[in-house]
Amino acid sequence: MNIVVVGSLNMDLVVRIPIIPKPGETRLGGVFNTFPGGKGANQAVAMARLGAHVTMVGCVGNDAFGQEMRASLDRERIDTSRIRVHPEEATGVALIQVDKQGQNSIAVAAGANFHLTSADVEKAMQAAGEFDALVMPLETPLDTIYTAARMAVRRGARVLLNPAPAQVLEKDLLQLVDVLVPNEYEIGLMVGAPLASAGDIQAAAEKLLAMGPKNLIVTLGSQGAILFNDQTSQGVSIPAWPVVSVDTTAAGDCFVGALAVGICEGKSLPSAAKFASAAAAISVTRPGAQPSLPRREEVEQFVKERSLLK
Ligand code: ATP
Ligand code: RIB
Repeated sequence: MNIVVVGSLNMDLVVRIPIIPKPGETRLGGVFNTFPGGKGANQAVAMARLGAHVTMVGCVGNDAFGQEMRASLDRERIDTSRIRVHPEEATGVALIQVDKQGQNSIAVAAGANFHLTSADVEKAMQAAGEFDALVMPLETPLDTIYTAARMAVRRGARVLLNPAPAQVLEKDLLQLVDVLVPNEYEIGLMVGAPLASAGDIQAAAEKLLAMGPKNLIVTLGSQGAILFNDQTSQGVSIPAWPVVSVDTTAAGDCFVGALAVGICEGKSLPSAAKFASAAAAISVTRPGAQPSLPRREEVEQFVKERSLLK
């Protein structure tokens, strides 16, 4: 199974602190760590650990973080030959604060990620050979997302788009998407109305599906996810697996990566989403972005053990 990711690579600078300070406030008591992250790289690592051969298309700076990011993907046997090194821009950085409930706030300096070009994407995808799916978040310029999606559709590959960070997208992009995976906030922003109830999610999903994606999976954190397409009237609920949350950073990335692997293996969408929900549940029990992402055997073991408990 070959999967291409067009997306970001960030070094995550993380402070774990019981309560995240409000604007203007200073709090002591944090513990600091760095972890390789970035939504694109996280999705790539999630898929590689679950058994996919992954090509990462992105851009880092000519600096220590850039080297570290590439080395960490190399260790996962991800093809990093399509990660361009920008001579002047710094590697992307995310400043992350995680509180005692595992909730986070994230500020990203995109740096080199926003210097990825459509020409880089074209070259990379031409060189990639056959691939089954293209997976993308929205942390590189929008024209790279369009270029990649068009090329993937021409090549008969599925397109999975994780519209994060949230932005409003045009129909001509959404029509190229096989599976769109926003969280609750992202879907609200995309349809122009924040969601307050289950009825709101249904209405927003119908509105978004009418803009072109074939399938929509709205993730709802510890509440699981809901799958919508033209065969579901109310949506199909994908329950979350109950776990103790330590750090939810990259839960969404883990979900998207595992979903792509499940789909490429021929699982039905509900069953791929259930697999993704298990992988993401494991990821929230551990700190950091890439270090938290589970390997295949762990997910299979987790599902087996939890199913025996029922
Ligand atoms: P993030 O930005 O933190 O990476 P996200 O907002 O994109 O995440 P979420 O909706 O929070 O994505 O989570 C994605 C999926 O991960 C959920 O649909 C669920 O399956 C799983 N998940 C997230 N949080 C929890 C939790 N506390 N317990 C169990 N599963 C969870
Ligand atoms: O989705 C989590 C990721 O978002 C972090 O790893 C951070 O780098 C930001 O891109």
